[in-house]
Amino acid sequence: MVESKLYQQNPIQDQLKPPLSTDLTAPSSFLESTANFPSSSEESPSREEWVFRDNRSLIHSNHELGSSVHSIVFQKAKDSYYWDVNNVQYLDMIGGLHTCHIGHGREEMAQVAYNQMKTMEFAPNIYNYSHSSAIKCAEKLVSITKHEYPSMERVYFTSGGSEAVEASIHLAERYWSLLNNSQTKKKIISFRNCYHGSTFVSSSLNEQVGKDEYGYQNLKGPTDRFSKDSIFLSIDFPHDFIVNSFQKHTQHANNGFFIAEQLENLIKLEGPENIAAFIAEPIQGVNGALEPHKDFFPLARRICDKYGVLLIADEVMTGFGKTGKWFGLSHYGIEPDIVVFGKGVTSGYLPLGGMMLARHLCQVLFKANIEHPFLHEFTFSGHPVCCEIVMKNLEIMFDENLVQRAAVMGTQLKSTLVQRLQGIPHFKEVSGMGFMLGLIFDEHVSAKRIHEELATCYHILVDYSRQNDRVVLITPPFNIHERDLNIFVDSIEQCVRNIVNTQQSTYH
Ligand SMILES: Cc1ncc(COP(=O)(O)O)c(C=O)c1O
Repeated sequence: MVESKLYQQNPIQDQLKPPLSTDLTAPSSFLESTANFPSSSEESPSREEWVFRDNRSLIHSNHELGSSVHSIVFQKAKDSYYWDVNNVQYLDMIGGLHTCHIGHGREEMAQVAYNQMKTMEFAPNIYNYSHSSAIKCAEKLVSITKHEYPSMERVYFTSGGSEAVEASIHLAERYWSLLNNSQTKKKIISFRNCYHGSTFVSSSLNEQVGKDEYGYQNLKGPTDRFSKDSIFLSIDFPHDFIVNSFQKHTQHANNGFFIAEQLENLIKLEGPENIAAFIAEPIQGVNGALEPHKDFFPLARRICDKYGVLLIADEVMTGFGKTGKWFGLSHYGIEPDIVVFGKGVTSGYLPLGGMMLARHLCQVLFKANIEHPFLHEFTFSGHPVCCEIVMKNLEIMFDENLVQRAAVMGTQLKSTLVQRLQGIPHFKEVSGMGFMLGLIFDEHVSAKRIHEELATCYHILVDYSRQNDRVVLITPPFNIHERDLNIFVDSIEQCVRNIVNTQQSTYH
C-alpha cells in the first residue's frame, strides 16, 4: 500500500483499505432466488446487501454479473468526490461518466431545478407550442458556440447523446432530399472504433467490440456494411497507433493525409450522390482520448465540401470545454455543418442532448411553408427544467473560467503523467487534450485491470477503453483541486508499477 505523506494527509487516503474481500459474490442461485438478502438493519443496509439487490433487480451496461468484488454502490457526491454506501470516499477522475464539468453537489444547480419545477415543470415543445426556457437555452447555446463555429444557427433538443446522433442522421438525409430532391444520398461514413451511442442507428455507426450483435450493420442484405449496398461505411482513425497496427509493413509519412485519401477514395467508390454525411468524434472518447493526426480534419472538411457530403461533429464527449476549447473541432481551425452534443452541457445534473445546425442547412430545412414540417418527436425535447440547468451550468463555467482551467491544468497534468510514467515497461504515451486524456499501454498491460485496481485499492475512479483494453481514460471535473491531481499521479504511477512488477515476477 502507498505510504507517502501526501496520502496520510488526505481524507481519501485515510480511508485506504486493503482490496475488498473476494467473497462478496452472491450465491450462484441468486438470480433465481426471490428470497431477501438478510438485512444488516432496516435503515442502513450493508454494502453486500446493496450489491446483492443490484445484481438481482437492476440492468446496467457492461455489468459482469456474478463478479461483485469490484462493485461500488454510490450514495453521495460533492466536488470531485463520491461516497459509497459504506461512506468510503472515492476521487472522481471521470467526472461522473465524462459529464461533470462543474463538480458534484452544487447547491445553486439544485435551486434552479427547484424553482423551475415550481414554476412550470413541463411544457410541450411541439407543433406551434414552445416555452421560454427552451428558447433562451437555444439562444445561449448558439451564442456560445458561434465563438468557435460562427455558422451555427438553430438547436434541436433531445434527452441524450445517442438520440441526438440519430436526429442528426435524419436531418442530414432530409437536407439532401429537400435540396436536390435526392432519394439516394443516404449513406453515412464513420470511423472504425468510434462510439456514437446505443440507439439502433447510432449503434450501426459503431464498429466496436460487443456492438456486433446489434445495429443495422448486423442485418444481412442491403444494409450489410461489407456489401456494396451498405448504408454504414467506415474509414480508419488517423492515429499513428491505430494506422501502424494494421499497416505493419508500410509506414506513411503522414497518417492524416493517408486516411483523408481513404475518405476521398471511399466517397468516389460509393458515388458522392449516395453519401449524406461523414460523422466523427473530434477526439475519440470511448476509444481512449485518441487524437487524430492534426492534418486530417482540415483535409476532411475540404473533401466533404468538394463532394457535397455533410460533416457532423459528434461532440457529446468533447463538447463544452473538455479538450480545453469549447468544441473539439475548433482545435483544427474548421467548423462542422452539424454539432451533436450531450453529457457536459448539463454537467450531468439532468439528462439533455441535442444538435446545432449551420445557417446554410437551416435555410433549406426550415423554409416557411415547407410541405412536410420536420417530424422527429421526443416528448422531452427541450424539457424546461433541463434547459434551465443547461443555462446555470454554462453560467458557472463562464464565471469560474472553467474551460481555460481545463486547458491549463490538463496540459500540466499531461506533461506530469508523461514524466512519471515514461520508462515504466509497457507504457507508451499520453494522448488527448485538456481534461480528456488517455494513458496508452502496449498489449501486455490491461487497462481494465488498472481501472479495477485504482478503484479497489486506491479509491480512484477512471475509465478504460472497451475497444482495445490498452487505454485508461480520465476526464476529471474542471474544478478539481490540484492536490487531488497530485494524488492521482502518485497513485497511478504506483498502481502501474505494481501491476507491471507482479506480471514480470509471474513471467520469470
Ligand atoms: C461521442 C459520443 N457520442 C454519443 C454518445 C452517446 O451519448 P448518450 O450515452 O448520452 O446517449 C456518447 C456516450 O458516451 C459519446 O461518447
